Amino acid sequence: MKSYTLLAAAAGLSILPSALAHSLLVGVIINGKNYHGYDPRPGAVNPADRVGWLTTAEDQGYVSALNYSTPDIVCHRGGKSPVAHAPVRAGDKVHVQWNGWPAGHQGPVISYVAPCKSTKGDGCTSADKNTLSWTKIENGEPGLFNPLTSPPPGDWASNHLANNNNSWLVGIPTGLKPGPYVLRHEIIALHFAAELGGAQNYPLCINLWVEAPAPGVPVKPFNLAAGIPATKMYKSTDPGILIDIYKTQTTSYVIPGPTVAPNANPVPVTAQTISASTADGVPVVVASGTKTVPFAQPTAVVRRYPRTF
Ligand SMILES: *[C@@H]1O[C@H](CO)[C@@H](O)[C@H](O)[C@H]1NC(C)=O
Ligand SMILES: *[C@@H]1O[C@H](CO)[C@@H](O)[C@H](O)[C@H]1NC(C)=O
Repeated sequence: MKSYTLLAAAAGLSILPSALAHSLLVGVIINGKNYHGYDPRPGAVNPADRVGWLTTAEDQGYVSALNYSTPDIVCHRGGKSPVAHAPVRAGDKVHVQWNGWPAGHQGPVISYVAPCKSTKGDGCTSADKNTLSWTKIENGEPGLFNPLTSPPPGDWASNHLANNNNSWLVGIPTGLKPGPYVLRHEIIALHFAAELGGAQNYPLCINLWVEAPAPGVPVKPFNLAAGIPATKMYKSTDPGILIDIYKTQTTSYVIPGPTVAPNANPVPVTAQTISASTADGVPVVVASGTKTVPFAQPTAVVRRYPRTF
C-alpha cells in the first residue's frame, strides 16, 4: 500500500480525506429534457420523481474489487430502485451527468442494460436487483487511449468524461425492445489497482422506459440472451482490474467484463459532447406491465398554522 501511496503522491494525487468524496449522479438528459439522479450525501433532498437509484454511499465512494460477488456491485452500495422511469426511444442517447470527477481516478467507462421483470407489473420499481441480467452496451473503447505515446498513468476514458463536463453519452441500441430497463453506467478507477482489491467501481443505475425507435431509424436486432448477473461481471484478478497503471507504460488494456453485445449503439469517444437541458422532463411510472402513466407529483400539503396575531 505504501509504495502506491508514494506513487500516487508523486503523480500529484491527493490522498487526503477530502479525496474520499468522489462523485454522484446529478441526472440524465434525454432529448434535451432533464431527469433527476440521486444525491446520497447526508441531508440531501431528493425529488420524488428521480430516476436515479438510491444508494447508501453517503461518502460518494466506491464498491471495492473485493466486493464483486456481493449485491453492492449491482447498483452501488444499498442500491434501491426509484418509482420513476425516464422515457427514451431505442436509438436515442442518454446523457449521464456526474457531479465532477477527480482527475487522479483514471480508468474505463462502461455501460450495461438489464430488462426489468417485476411480478407487480411496476417495471423496475420492485424488480429484484439480484436477478437482473446485464448486457454490455459500451466499453468506452479503447478504455486506454494512445497507449504508446501517452506516459503513465495514461489517457483513460475517465479523462475524456471529466473533460466533457463530467458527462458521458450512452447510446441505446436501436433494437432494444420496448419496456422497462435499468441502465448501469460505471467508471472503474484504477489508481490503487496494483494492489489486489484496490480497483474502485462507481456504478450508477438509472431507470429507463424504452419506447420504439423514432420513425426512419434503421433497427438492428439486439439480443439480451447472453446477459449475466452483476456479481459475475468482474473478478478481482482480471487483467483490467489488477493492474499497475503507474509502474510501466501500459501498452494495451483489456477492458474488464463481458464483451459488448453485437449491434449495440455506443457513442464513440470522439463524438462525446456536453449537453445542457432546457427543461425538466416528466418521467413515467409503469402501471401494469406494459402501460405507463406520467409521474404525478405528490400533492403539496398546505399547513395552516394558528394565527398568532
Ligand atoms: C465491502 O463489503 C463489506 C461487507 O459487506 C462492507 O462492509 C464494505 O463497506 C464494502 N466496501 C466497499 C468499499 O465496497
Ligand atoms: C456541467 O454540469 C453541471 C452539473 O454538474 C451542469 O449544471 C452544467 O449546466 C453543465 N455545463 C454545461 C455547459 O453543460
